Amino acid sequence: MNKLVHILCLFGATVLIGCSGQGQRPSTATEKLVTDDQLIVAALQRLEKGLAITPDSNQIPRAVEHDGSIRGVKSSDWTSGFFPGNLWLAYGYTNDPRYREQAEKWTAFIEKEKHNNRTHDMGFKVNCSFGQGYALTQNPHYKAVLIKSAETLMTRYNPKIGSLRSWDHNRDKWEFPVIIDNMLNLELLFLATRFTGDSSFYKVAHQHALTTMQHHFRSDYSTFHVVDYDPVTGKVKSKATHQGYADGSSWARGQAWALYGYTMAYRETGDKRFLELAENIGQFILNHKNLPADMVPYWDFDAPNIPDAPRDASAAAVIASAFYELSTYSAAHTARFKTAADQIMAALSSDAYLVPATASHPFILRHSTGNLPKNDEIDVPISYADYYYLEALLRKKNGFTGPLSAF
Ligand code: GLY
Repeated sequence: MNKLVHILCLFGATVLIGCSGQGQRPSTATEKLVTDDQLIVAALQRLEKGLAITPDSNQIPRAVEHDGSIRGVKSSDWTSGFFPGNLWLAYGYTNDPRYREQAEKWTAFIEKEKHNNRTHDMGFKVNCSFGQGYALTQNPHYKAVLIKSAETLMTRYNPKIGSLRSWDHNRDKWEFPVIIDNMLNLELLFLATRFTGDSSFYKVAHQHALTTMQHHFRSDYSTFHVVDYDPVTGKVKSKATHQGYADGSSWARGQAWALYGYTMAYRETGDKRFLELAENIGQFILNHKNLPADMVPYWDFDAPNIPDAPRDASAAAVIASAFYELSTYSAAHTARFKTAADQIMAALSSDAYLVPATASHPFILRHSTGNLPKNDEIDVPISYADYYYLEALLRKKNGFTGPLSAF
């Protein structure tokens, strides 16, 4: 069925019945969403409220506060790329020029980050905005921004350690901290090698993934959050957490970044060690005794007050999107990973996790946890949950179709 017709189908039972399509039974307004297109349309029904927001470089939507107001951030925040990315994903699905116009405006605010060498979050910020935009428009300026951003990210590489430095803050605690989240930023470097033919981006990304594989993981394939290195000797100094419950616990989003990161690293390198690790991380998650029946993890797999601990829908969305891709590589676990992704998406697409359609803000999912130890963003809608949920919805519908192109 035509996508735009599906969008019209949102507006009431009469239209829904008219839109039920060949060979489908008639729908009613209260019927559960079942087709992939219906799930996407329901998500976009929430996101489209973002078309009415006047773009503001100081207020890029990041989360919903408990009082219902939107928490906005500047481009330097690690989450700045996700809201523009959500608009690009919506444009890719609908071809609606309103999404493109709005995505272009928010994306433009992020360009100055291409010079920001003080953090590793370049991939999150620039790849999710300019990268998605480039995949859809082939705008040569977007390509140039992506390449410059990758060059800036490369300045954070220490060849003695074989890693990109994650953070510059907390210098009293860490000398050269590398967090598992950093795996996601490698996608930008792989992209830069494809764009330029310069293999140095690829080599750094590959080595970073090897170093992280060696030092971040425990024998059960769970991951530490932060590994601190000595920048002179390259030796590990300490292993700790920043956003998890304890140094030895398994912070849910950290496990999600690991799964997604090694799935992507295998895609980009063909290095079988990364595939094996991703499969083992996947098994760790799925076999965990504290994974709830609906498969949306608690914020930390070892949170002290399970089953009353807050959930993290963002971790679930990242895991689902990763499983859709990993299931296409993993001969041994194709069905298990695909089924798990479908189960997670069924939960996230239910009333329990979807923001009520009547909400006035443009967020899609509820129940994410940003930073519980800091008492920050607990059980709220967050832009990156929506980004990976939309990506997973598109992968569910289309299968995995390649980096940054869920269309
Ligand atoms: N990369 C930061 C986070 O996952 O919260």
